[in-house]
Amino acid sequence: MEKKRSSFTGKLGFVLAAAGSAVGLGNIWRFPYLAAQYGGGVFLLVYILLAVTFGFAMMAAEIAIGRKTGLSAIGAFEKLNKKFSFVGYLGALVPALILPYYSVIGGWVTKYFVVYITGDSAEAAKDGYFNSFISGTASPIFWFSIFIAITALIVLLGVEKGIEKLSKIMMPILILLSLVVAVYVCLTPGAGAGIAYYLKPDFSHFSIMTVVAAMGQMFYSMSIAMGIMITYGSYMKKEVSIESSVHQIEIFDTGIAFLAGLMIIPAVFAFSGGDPASLGAGPGLMFITLPKVFDSMTGGAIIGALFFLLVFFAALTSSISLMETVVSILQDKLKWNRRLTCLVVFIGSLLIGLPSALGYGPLEGIKLLGMQCLDFFDFITNSVIMPIVALFTCIMVGYVIKPKTLTDEIELSGHFRLKKLFIVMIRYIAPIFLVVILISSVLSAFGIIKI
Ligand code: PHE
Repeated sequence: MEKKRSSFTGKLGFVLAAAGSAVGLGNIWRFPYLAAQYGGGVFLLVYILLAVTFGFAMMAAEIAIGRKTGLSAIGAFEKLNKKFSFVGYLGALVPALILPYYSVIGGWVTKYFVVYITGDSAEAAKDGYFNSFISGTASPIFWFSIFIAITALIVLLGVEKGIEKLSKIMMPILILLSLVVAVYVCLTPGAGAGIAYYLKPDFSHFSIMTVVAAMGQMFYSMSIAMGIMITYGSYMKKEVSIESSVHQIEIFDTGIAFLAGLMIIPAVFAFSGGDPASLGAGPGLMFITLPKVFDSMTGGAIIGALFFLLVFFAALTSSISLMETVVSILQDKLKWNRRLTCLVVFIGSLLIGLPSALGYGPLEGIKLLGMQCLDFFDFITNSVIMPIVALFTCIMVGYVIKPKTLTDEIELSGHFRLKKLFIVMIRYIAPIFLVVILISSVLSAFGIIKI
């Protein structure tokens, strides 16, 4: 029996809660390094196009599924069609796989915050600092464990609400601070080439990998194709508009990612001369680039400390949302008490995350499909499992329960302006697209095609 659900008070409550889960490391850490790596402007363009079409349709569908059934992912798929209940389970696997490596990066952020408040900011700006940190053993494990322990403690004590409140103050400050840093970077001599690289699409940089990466990023950043938005939808009141809520969450989420890119990519040009190796730095990009920016600013140590503190909070609200999801699924299914469940998820995440934490150091030689552990978990979730979840969601909605079931739900709160786009995306464009993406990413991972 599902307990009676409490609901978000209104639209603002819903949008802020969903945005709190959506905005996190995906926007600030992941988006800029992918944009730098996959062609700058052309990546940005593909990302935005995907977000307003496919992302819009997927998020609206998930929220509508949640609101219609009043259940979270596993129960919702079971209720709509028994044959598709595996989609709920598959989606539930995603947060469990993301949480461990998300916490590894959360640990990096925590470490940088502490470095800044202990006055070592000049050290952090030196070449090689980041690499010597992540290639160690004790240090990455230490910071990773700290981050996951903080997350587990908050979930265990049930004080998420307090953190959410705090993050509602932190988020606007983060946006303001990012704006200031972005303006500073863009005015630094040498940044012009970076601004052009980021904002002007150059189609010679386009490849199918641009689309694969942009699509994975979209799922990740908007917290879709993993059941989370279904859960949020289940708490949404019937009179709140799904359509305009989705627009607002998207603007929030994409806006912050855009700003992070504007802060980091021109900085690669202004401070590292646009070195192609830096552009392809991958997960370390933010940690290599931003300390150089802060080091050159007056009061940079304080700004850096504040910045990493705010990113820490954005990461924490997301990791809490990830862990909460895993804990509540296990609790529901296994009927364990909350304490035991939190402990099991904490230890499980520590163990699964360990290879990712050590993947740049002692375990560097170990490659899964040619990838480091962290990249591998990132790839499996974003480029394989999430597209599969999205594909079957589209098939179920488009052909089994039919789009009307959901458009009726969406229309409960008024006219659905983009209804045609929604139906065409879910039934035709998204499934074809997803199949192409899935095949390309899997073939490329096995080295069968080079893209
Ligand atoms: N969307 C979050 C981010 O961008 C990551 C996340 C995924 C958080 C799933 C919660 C659930 O960082």
